[in-house]
Amino acid sequence: MCINIAQQNFGRTGKNPSVGALILKDGLIATGVTSCGGMPHAEVNAINNAKNLGIDCNDAKMFVTLEPCAHFGKTPPCVDAIIQAGISHIVIGVKDPDSRVNGKGIEKLQNAGIKVEMLELPQIYGLYKAYFVFKTQQRPFVTLKIASSLDGKVALANGESKWITSENARQYTNFLRSRFNGILVGANTIKNDKPTLNCRINGLEEFSPKRFVVSKNQFEGYHNVYGLIKEILEDLYKNDIQSLLVEGGSNLITQFIKDDLFDELILVQAPIFIGNDGKNCIDDLNLNEIPRIGLNVISQKIVDGNVFTQFTKKVCPQF
Ligand SMILES: NC(=O)c1ccc[n+]([C@@H]2O[C@H](COP(=O)([O-])OP(=O)(O)OC[C@H]3O[C@@H](n4cnc5c(N)ncnc54)[C@H](OP(=O)(O)O)[C@@H]3O)[C@@H](O)[C@H]2O)c1
Repeated sequence: MCINIAQQNFGRTGKNPSVGALILKDGLIATGVTSCGGMPHAEVNAINNAKNLGIDCNDAKMFVTLEPCAHFGKTPPCVDAIIQAGISHIVIGVKDPDSRVNGKGIEKLQNAGIKVEMLELPQIYGLYKAYFVFKTQQRPFVTLKIASSLDGKVALANGESKWITSENARQYTNFLRSRFNGILVGANTIKNDKPTLNCRINGLEEFSPKRFVVSKNQFEGYHNVYGLIKEILEDLYKNDIQSLLVEGGSNLITQFIKDDLFDELILVQAPIFIGNDGKNCIDDLNLNEIPRIGLNVISQKIVDGNVFTQFTKKVCPQF
C-alpha cells in the first residue's frame, strides 16, 4: 500500500523522490505522499493528515518507502516531525542514497528511542531506480523510446513518420511522459515532425516534462543542449532532471546506445511493415562482434496490437 501511495506522484516531485507513508494505530489512521513539487514530504503530510482528523500519533507505527530526511533543506528534517509526533516504531523501505541523509535519519530515530526496521525490498529499489541513478551517478535516469514497424523502421523513405502507432498507443505514450521530468529529441525530429511532446491527457497536462532539444540551434519552446552525450547528461543533472525520456530520432538514440549511457528502453512495435527503403530506428553501430549488453524485459503491454516492451539493463545493484 505504501508503494502504491508513493507511485501517485511519480515524476511530479521535482528532484525529490515521491515517497509514500502510512501511520497505523489500531488500524490505518493516515497516509501521506510527497507533495507535487517535492514539498512537504510524505511523513509530514501523513502526520498532518492524522492531526487534521484529530487523531494523536503518540505510540503509532509508521511505514515509509524511503529513509526520512535528517537535514535542514527547504523544510525542517522529517525525523524531527516523526519524533515530535510520538511515533514509536518505524518500518523503512530503503536507505536514502543522498549523502545528506544516508543512514543519518535512521540513526537519529534510533537515538530518540524509536524502533527502526529496514525492509530493503527489491521492488522498492525498483521504485527508486531513477533517484538512485541521479544521486549515485550524478546524471538523469535515461529511458530511450523507439516507435517502429515490425521491421525496425521509424519513417518512410519520404520522411513521413507520424502516426506509426495507433491513437490509443499514442495516448499511452502521453501517459508515460507524465512520469518523467525531462524529454529529449534531436533537431531533425523537431524540424520534420514538429511533435508537441507534451502529455495530452485530461488532468495530466500540467505534468508534461520539460522539453529539451539536442542542437547547436535554438528552437522556440525547447531548452537547448549539445555536445557529447556525457556532457548533455551533466547539463541535465545540473538542471535537476532526474528522469529523462529520449524520444528519437535515430541519430540521437544511436549516440546513447554507442556511449552505453541509458538505463531502459521502451520499444513500441506497430503491427506494420515499412520495408527496406524506410528509415532505420538505429543508425550504424560499426560492430565487429555480437554485443552482450544484457537487456532484460521487465514489462510488456499490448495496446491495439502495438506491443510496448520495457527493457532494462539492471533494475538496481540489489537485484
Ligand atoms: N517513430 C519514432 O519513434 C520516431 C521518433 C523520433 C523521430 N523519428 C523520425 O526520425 C527522424 C529524425 O531522425 P534523425 O536521426 O534524422 O535525427 P534526430 O536524431 O532527430 O536529430 C539529429 C540532429 O540533432 C542534432 N544533434 C544530434 N546530436 C547532437 C549532439 N550530440 N550535439 C548537438 N547536436 C546534435 C543535429 O542537428 P543540428 O546540427 O541541425 O543541430 C543532428 O543532425 C524524424 O524525421 C522522424 O521521422 C521517429
